[in-house]
Amino acid sequence: MKIGIDSIAFSTSRYFLRLEILAAHRGVKFEKYSQGIGQIMMPVFPPNEDIVTIAIDAARKAIAHIENIAAIDFLIFATESSFDLSKAAGIYVHHFLKLREDCRVIEIKQACYSATAALQLAKSFVRENHNSKVLVIGSDIVKYSSGSSGEPTQGGAAVAFLVSTDPQIMIIEDGSGVHTNDVMDFWRPASENEALFDGKLSAYNYLKSLDISFNRYLAKTNRDISSIDYVCFHAPFGKMAHKGAQQIKWRESIDDTLLYNSVLGNSCSASLYICLMSLLDHAKTSLEGKRIGLYSYGSGSVAEYFSGIINGKYKSRITAEKNQRMLESREEISFEEYELFCKNSSDSTNKIYENSGTVRLKSIENKKRIYLEN
Ligand code: CAA
Repeated sequence: MKIGIDSIAFSTSRYFLRLEILAAHRGVKFEKYSQGIGQIMMPVFPPNEDIVTIAIDAARKAIAHIENIAAIDFLIFATESSFDLSKAAGIYVHHFLKLREDCRVIEIKQACYSATAALQLAKSFVRENHNSKVLVIGSDIVKYSSGSSGEPTQGGAAVAFLVSTDPQIMIIEDGSGVHTNDVMDFWRPASENEALFDGKLSAYNYLKSLDISFNRYLAKTNRDISSIDYVCFHAPFGKMAHKGAQQIKWRESIDDTLLYNSVLGNSCSASLYICLMSLLDHAKTSLEGKRIGLYSYGSGSVAEYFSGIINGKYKSRITAEKNQRMLESREEISFEEYELFCKNSSDSTNKIYENSGTVRLKSIENKKRIYLEN
């Protein structure tokens, strides 16, 4: 049975900061960010936008073509940016999407790996329930402390995709290489808003885990590297993905996979799938029938290397022009506004900030989040 990704979409903040501006304020050469790290812009999230509002926007786009929304009977929300240790963020999405009442909703976590765990879980679920469509969402907003080495890699986005039989975009193949090891390379205790990290250790472990999971994938599937046509990597920043390509001695360019990442920054759980969308939207020749290798890495750590085959009808499901328009219509903010957003306060700007979609976080009352449709 063919199971995989039937539709896919992403969303992000309507506001961004140019890393040229950040570099000037941090006394760093912009080339360190643009060439050394591989990033040129980062999205910045106003107080009325969060992982739920961008998730709703992405999900609405991903399910826009569905005639029977009742076919969605499972929603998995993958994130490491949770604001609630009990209630699943996906329940707000379920409400605004008006999904059926007996649709299961859960939230899952393992750093940036979680959307891949969700995809594999969805695939197993669909194998057992052939008529099901599972809505998988990876939504993260990554914040590091101001002035830290991680600051220029901050970012955020939500990706939403439907997993079903006869997928129009990509069949997820059986067989993958997984590697789990206990390492303190990146973590965020429940009391903290910003992630803590050991940058060099995290880069080392990303590459070591890639080596192990990739070779395990090759051994399990009895394939060699020449059977893979394109590769997408989890991209905490573009240069890390390039280092991944070197690690597995990949000779083709991966530039098409990183075009969205360079202006979205690290979107954690969404990142790998945004690299896949970047490839789908920008590949110069048809991807029909091509095998895509995918490397998912979540600090802490769990890594998985797996693959998919692109369906001949994928072009009917991709929205390259809309994605480009969404990114081009974003508004640049000043460094001063960025600093206000970091403190989660826009009060003194007297400016009304727009949302990516139509749902906004109106307020937090008695520690309850109140969302409203505009
Ligand atoms: N022009 C061009 N390049 C320059 C330059 C200039 N003027 N100045 C410096 N560079 C280059 C450096 O040579 C270096 O290149 P190499 O890596 O090829 O040697 C690169 O810019 C970065 O320079 P530094 O190593 O000095 O950078 P740094 O220490 O300030 O920070 C970082 C880099 C460690 C990755 C930091 O961004 C960080 O800690 N980020 C957060 C953690 C992270 O993203 N880890 C990735 C793996 S973990 C993961 O994948 C999970 C996740 O999503 C977090």
